[in-house]
Amino acid sequence: MSLIYVLNGPNLNLLGKRQPHIYGHETLADIERDCRALATSLGLEMRFHQSNREYELIDWVHEARETASGIVINPAAFTHTSVAILDALSAFDHPIIEVHISNVHKREEFRHHSYISPIASGVIAGFGTQGYQLAIRRLATLIGQTKA
Ligand code: DQA
Repeated sequence: MSLIYVLNGPNLNLLGKRQPHIYGHETLADIERDCRALATSLGLEMRFHQSNREYELIDWVHEARETASGIVINPAAFTHTSVAILDALSAFDHPIIEVHISNVHKREEFRHHSYISPIASGVIAGFGTQGYQLAIRRLATLIGQTKA
């Protein structure tokens, strides 16, 4: 069974409480539950993590290098700042889908640049928490294609 990682960056532990007009009312636990149900139905094993610490996200990407066939990542604010996460993901040889709950392109200018997008297979922004589901479906397709 293929393994995927779903990684979440800083402040996403506050989903549901944090700026609900931007990020909605669903919690990270709701997202994890829905992702797990979808992954299972697609025949994928999933590891789901969130951290406010850059190094922990990097360590999970390194772990994924050894074990996983794909990564869905919402790097949150690290999207716009982290060369270190870019470097870690660049050493991952399988598909990566970048997810943002909000449409970063209609927000502040500093959110328009992503260090991650140039190495992502695809980017989903502004689809709310549904973006995670779309990302997992796409990853399942890409993993299938890789094997074919
Ligand atoms: C975010 C967008 C980022 O700009 C922001 O820093 C986040 C969340 C999103 O999911 O819309 O924390 O990645």
